[in-house]
Amino acid sequence: MLYRELNGKTALVTGGSRGFGRAIAERLANEGCTVFVNYKRSKSEAEDVVDSIQKAGGKAFALRGDVGKEEKIQHMFKTIKSETGQLDILIPNASFGIPGELMGTTSKYWEVTMNATARSLVLLAQESQKLMKGWGRIVTVTSYGGQRVLNGYGIVGPAKAAVESLTRSLAVELAPKGILVNGVMPGVSGTKSFLAIPGAESVLEEGLNRSPMKRLVSPEEVGNVVAFLCSNQADMICGQFIVIDGGTFILGY
Ligand SMILES: NC(=O)c1ccc[n+]([C@@H]2O[C@H](COP(=O)([O-])OP(=O)(O)OC[C@H]3O[C@@H](n4cnc5c(N)ncnc54)[C@H](OP(=O)(O)O)[C@@H]3O)[C@@H](O)[C@H]2O)c1
Repeated sequence: MLYRELNGKTALVTGGSRGFGRAIAERLANEGCTVFVNYKRSKSEAEDVVDSIQKAGGKAFALRGDVGKEEKIQHMFKTIKSETGQLDILIPNASFGIPGELMGTTSKYWEVTMNATARSLVLLAQESQKLMKGWGRIVTVTSYGGQRVLNGYGIVGPAKAAVESLTRSLAVELAPKGILVNGVMPGVSGTKSFLAIPGAESVLEEGLNRSPMKRLVSPEEVGNVVAFLCSNQADMICGQFIVIDGGTFILGY
């Protein structure tokens, strides 16, 4: 436990069942937070995260809910209210995007991607701030695609750009309520969602070759930065993004 002020807080990590979300959930649980591990379909993976947290002496709940659907978010918050009545930390980590070029996209793809990645952030923040009593932390997760044109990121890139813009607007709106909003931008990592993108293996190889540190970011390293942004050590950081990639992004991607 590094940040004692996080002990006894309650956190919701969307997409907490694997990848970056899992590492964030486990790190916050190590800091003494009760963690809601959200997932859409991967029940057994979410239960595995809860098990691992409980075995380490922590407290966690698996929480099913597609963040792309408003009614599912409402239902998730009903459960949070009945289980703990408290929420201090929101990590809107889950995102879902249909890969492809813009000329091949449809209104349905746009809706699904934008709802799960960008609209969800607003809906989750609206519900969370009702439960955050004078102290709160929201840490969003974005990617190079919000700022650079990446192959196959037709709608996913704009959705991530919206996450960045929303992070800044939420930061300004919620700061007077003691709720600090920031974001992290991890570099590429071979998680399940990433490997589903066409050409992912070669992007990972290129990422490794270009990295000044000659390695890719691990989920645990993302969890470390998220925990820092939730801590009181980050009290004066508001509406900012920390790039976690060992220096690759500053080379120009
Ligand atoms: N991997 C990278 O290179 C990279 C780089 C920068 C940023 N990121 C960002 O990091 C975040 C996590 O991605 P990851 O790479 O760690 O992916 P991952 O390992 O595949 O995990 C994705 C998680 O999100 C959940 N999820 C997906 N759609 C959901 C929805 N509609 N509602 C609720 N949960 C949903 C998944 O659960 P189910 O299986 O149940 O759907 C799973 O728990 C994303 O925002 C991604 O854009 C990733």
